[in-house]
Amino acid sequence: MTRPRRIVVDLASPHPAWRVPATAVSTIQAALGPGWEVVEVAVPTASDSPGTPEAVAAVCGAEIYLGHVVPAGVIEAGRDSLRWAHTVTAGVAPSLPHFRGTHIVLTNSAGVHAEPIADWVIAAIGYFARGLDRLREFQAAGRWAWAEFADFAVPVRELSELRLGVFGLGGIGSAIARRGVALRMSVAGVRRRPARGGPTGVRWVGGLADLPRLAAESDCLVIAAPHTAETRGAVSRAVLERLPHDAIVVNVSRGTLLDETALLAVLDASRVRGAALDVFAAEPLPAGHPFWRHPRVLVSPHVAAVTARFWERETGLIVENIRRYLAGSPLTNTVDLEAGY
Ligand SMILES: NC(=O)c1ccc[n+]([C@@H]2O[C@H](COP(=O)([O-])OP(=O)(O)OC[C@H]3O[C@@H](n4cnc5c(N)ncnc54)[C@H](OP(=O)(O)O)[C@@H]3O)[C@@H](O)[C@H]2O)c1
Repeated sequence: MTRPRRIVVDLASPHPAWRVPATAVSTIQAALGPGWEVVEVAVPTASDSPGTPEAVAAVCGAEIYLGHVVPAGVIEAGRDSLRWAHTVTAGVAPSLPHFRGTHIVLTNSAGVHAEPIADWVIAAIGYFARGLDRLREFQAAGRWAWAEFADFAVPVRELSELRLGVFGLGGIGSAIARRGVALRMSVAGVRRRPARGGPTGVRWVGGLADLPRLAAESDCLVIAAPHTAETRGAVSRAVLERLPHDAIVVNVSRGTLLDETALLAVLDASRVRGAALDVFAAEPLPAGHPFWRHPRVLVSPHVAAVTARFWERETGLIVENIRRYLAGSPLTNTVDLEAGY
């Protein structure tokens, strides 16, 4: 009797938003068909762990691995048997070094988080542009701040008068750009391969070298590019200083792309209206960090992607790639190890 081929599902979590539902596992099993053994790892993997002993044991002899991150120990144990490893995250920087020198294809979940994050970005822009941050402040003080608005002491703007600049016009950035166009904002963006263009209605698309120009022309600058060797620190002091007066900065990618010290300086100089940050260079944001108490910073604990619809989209991506894998076709969302995303 031939041994079944094996897929390891290492997607346990104490948190319902990130715990793979039983229905998703059944769908994956059905997509694989007969001849496959699905091994579910019941112990959650911590993001900085080299892999749980259960996952490491399960992956020996396995062909496919599905995980939250792809830990070093898992790749080491599956070096000879694994053909494909998939992560349900979009950012892959911590996993990349483990894949160098192996023949294992790495796929990620780029684009899967686009819709909820784009919703969050528009909400964050509205929060500052329409002065909702100040309303919370006045309400906490029990103050009927009619005059502050009528006297324009609180700067407010209509969404359709805003220029939206998107750094990283990929899955997330394009969903943000489409919402901007639909709200009649003037939208531009930069991406690594500008020749690929952007969604219909985007005014111009440039490369990384155009980031200072993008900043200069953006009332809202949204950071949505991955962490790579090229993008690290790209939203520098020089870039932030190009922003127009009362601009809004939104970061939903990784904290390492943004000079956080320089952001504080431009906020304190009142050049920037507000910053909505879902990601930080150090997470959790350390106690006592100036962002915590800053009146014009919205601190979000890396939850912009969280909604109950994640597994629906994620399972769709996994099943599509299982179909391709079984057909011997190139997988979608394959990570380019050199480009870093
Ligand atoms: N806050 C959260 O919870 C959360 C959730 C998901 C993802 N993220 C972060 O968001 C990032 C983007 O996710 P995604 O799904 O949109 O990924 P994606 O579809 O791969 O998009 C990445 C975009 O960044 C662009 N880019 C890459 N390197 C660049 C460079 N050097 N200069 C300019 N643009 C560059 C790419 O350009 P090309 O298209 O031209 O190649 C692409 O448009 C992830 O890597 C992750 O770090 C955060």
